[in-house]
Amino acid sequence: MSKVTVVGAGNVGATCANVLVTSQIADEVVLLDIKEGVSEGKAMDIMQTANILGLQSRLTGVTNDYEKTANSDVVVITSGIPRKPGMTREELIGVNAGIVKSVTENVLKHSPNAVIICVSNPMDTMTYLIHKTSGMPKNRIIGMGGALDSARFKYFLSNALNANAIEVEGIVIGGHGDTTMIPLTRFAAYRGVPASNFLSEEELAKIAADTMVGGATLTKLLGTSAWYAPGAAAAQVAGAVLHDQKKLIPCSALLDGEYGESDLCIGVPCIIGKNGIEKIVEFELNDAEKALFAKSAEAVHNTNAALAGAL
Ligand code: LAC
Repeated sequence: MSKVTVVGAGNVGATCANVLVTSQIADEVVLLDIKEGVSEGKAMDIMQTANILGLQSRLTGVTNDYEKTANSDVVVITSGIPRKPGMTREELIGVNAGIVKSVTENVLKHSPNAVIICVSNPMDTMTYLIHKTSGMPKNRIIGMGGALDSARFKYFLSNALNANAIEVEGIVIGGHGDTTMIPLTRFAAYRGVPASNFLSEEELAKIAADTMVGGATLTKLLGTSAWYAPGAAAAQVAGAVLHDQKKLIPCSALLDGEYGESDLCIGVPCIIGKNGIEKIVEFELNDAEKALFAKSAEAVHNTNAALAGAL
């Protein structure tokens, strides 16, 4: 029996729970929120698709009852306020740091061995906060930003190539921020053939630029932060843990010298399996990519400095 708790029944949390259940990634899912009735209502709505879709997975909604989350294999933390149009993810730090810290303490009381997947923004900084305040082993804390950013990169890439989304490859490393993420266009590929064979430098640069502001574009269109791809990305990472898939997914990991950086969480290619981040995959970046990564790490360090009061 695999069990996942999703904390926060907002758009992202509820979508994550929906994907976990409708794609039958987890046997049991608990959706927890502080707001009375919301998680119960969304869980009921989702479970009413069970007969239509022929589902075996079960979803329960609870209001702040952490006992019901006991013995979860994976806990996805989506709590906090989302950004509004014109806001950066970094502007959320003051409010979200307190929330994420207390949620982490509560879930660990009942699921001390869980792998935690952090979705709350600013995602790299919230992942770092969990490391700093929980005392958990670093492999068991995963920031999901790179999974989402890479999915967006592949979306723009497949559109430009007029290709099937699953036939393209692309990874995004660096921070989960409009100016800090690094879509690695050099490694973008269409069925193994470098994308540069089909797309001009300008076209690839546009794909990278669209990816970087992917979240902001949606926030502007929707009036609030996106949820379908963020929820699905978190569910994808949860599935890689639950099923010990050893999948290579770019995620925010605590670095200790990898890619020349330490004492921060930032997006790097990770092997995700039952122990969480089982390995950080290192490969040689060229000078331009190295410079972008160093700049991105500096920006994430600067955001982390705002945590001082919360640590
Ligand atoms: C986004 C939020 C979830 O990128 O960070 O849509």
